[in-house]
Amino acid sequence: MGNAQSNRRSPVSRRAYLKAAGAGSLVGIAGLAGCTVDTNGGGGGGDGDGENAIIAGTAPGFPPFELKNEQGELVGFDIDLLEAVVAETDYSLSEWREFEFDSLITALQNDRIDVIAAAMTITPDRRQTISFTDPYYNADQSVLVRRGGDFQPESLDDLSGRRVGAQEGTTGDGVVQDRLVDPGKLDAADYNAYGNYVLAVEDLENGNIDAVVLDRPVAETFAQERDVEVAFTVKTGERYGFGVRQNDDSLRTALNDGLQAVRESGRYEEIRNEWFGGSPS
Ligand code: ARG
Repeated sequence: MGNAQSNRRSPVSRRAYLKAAGAGSLVGIAGLAGCTVDTNGGGGGGDGDGENAIIAGTAPGFPPFELKNEQGELVGFDIDLLEAVVAETDYSLSEWREFEFDSLITALQNDRIDVIAAAMTITPDRRQTISFTDPYYNADQSVLVRRGGDFQPESLDDLSGRRVGAQEGTTGDGVVQDRLVDPGKLDAADYNAYGNYVLAVEDLENGNIDAVVLDRPVAETFAQERDVEVAFTVKTGERYGFGVRQNDDSLRTALNDGLQAVRESGRYEEIRNEWFGGSPS
């Protein structure tokens, strides 16, 4: 087959990686639940102590949306975008807190954070418990396999009888459950739900599992950094939004206005180009 290294169409910018992450830096993010990261006043331009100071929550290990760079700093598209959006509002961002993805909604409901910026898909289920801003990014699900390996599935059905991984509580987890495990196409024992996708991709590289189901832009990023490739994509038509508490109308409205402002100013496109590579159009 073709040389996977020459995948010119991948949208992820090498530059963003060199700048923010460095080779091999996508490791070592396990066990982060509850860690606190001080942004030194990042975003908002305020001192973060004002009445309108808000705390953001995310789940790193999901490049290029949120990841740790070689210095251990939290970086990524979501980080830059939320900070730019908040800077357009009367709020200021005082802190980023890190959780496993599965804990973010609870953290929001318990007031440990005020906004979720974690490439979180807007779903009817999640809407039962939290609210979302307007969408800021679109994605489908992709299936990752070992690069150049014998196993080259073309559809979800081809994952039958294989060992499959996804991150717990994600829409990828939902695809595996709803379309493979529940209909009896995949034995529950052959499905591993991981705390984060870095661990899943490491297990894939090591041969402990045969496929990982995850958001396409993230799959393409792992394919650039690691010994894995995208086998196929499942159209799910997902849209990411920032999550806020259901009663927090003023924050949701402010973030929507801020989102519109960063789109209109060209800042959104700059951030996107920085993390996904520029496709001048
Ligand atoms: N978009 C998917 C979802 O909402 C995956 C998000 C995972 N995000 C993360 N930061 N790990 O379920």
